[in-house]
Amino acid sequence: MNTETFRLQKYLAHCGVASRRKAEEYILRGMVKVNGKVVTELGTTVSAADKVEFNGKPVTINRNKVYIMLHKPKGYVTTVHDPQGRRTVMDLIRDVDERVYPVGRLDYDTSGLLLLTNDGELAYKMTHPSYEILKVYIATVKGHPSEETIRNLESGIEIDGYITAPARVKVIEQYKDRTKLEITIHEGRNRQVRKMCEAAGHPVITLKRIKIGSLSLDGLKSGQWRFLSQREIKEIKGMM
Ligand code: URA
Repeated sequence: MNTETFRLQKYLAHCGVASRRKAEEYILRGMVKVNGKVVTELGTTVSAADKVEFNGKPVTINRNKVYIMLHKPKGYVTTVHDPQGRRTVMDLIRDVDERVYPVGRLDYDTSGLLLLTNDGELAYKMTHPSYEILKVYIATVKGHPSEETIRNLESGIEIDGYITAPARVKVIEQYKDRTKLEITIHEGRNRQVRKMCEAAGHPVITLKRIKIGSLSLDGLKSGQWRFLSQREIKEIKGMM
């Protein structure tokens, strides 16, 4: 018998329940049982001989890796469960048999490209800052940012007491009282684009992610999802 042991959060990620970080949260929230008992200790180790349950359902190692691109509409949370009962992105992919989970997050009010997978290793790498994967956003902001403001956004701007890494910012279109910007960043801090624009004096009105690395949302309508092609899977693995 295979007696190899894993830390519980790593085991859950490996089985495609959630990223390691998210799995830790679920453990602490009492959503995970081992051999019938709720476990809230992050140090717990399990082996294939243990019966692990998440949210009342048995967890097993999933060998079938699935990679999905979703065009998230605004008004959905990017979590598997929402304690406040709001709609989650999982409601949009009900017809997928495998248990997948979101890679990183988009705010409730942000739309656009979201990846979901049960490949814990890939999800971990894609959200790890050291891989510096480029993400492209279209932000419609209030007012008309000056050239100097655009340069400041590009070179790094202070949010939450730190300076953002270099970004690329292009003006796509100007309207009477707002401007459409294309913003490319490789960091992924919480509400980063919104905070950057706010700090620059031009709060975001709408925000959409259109690219992650070489993957783009082209042709996918709001609320629709599709599996990544073999070529796309190879490309994202090649980015890491
Ligand atoms: N930056 C934000 O401010 N929000 C997102 O959803 C993604 C990036």
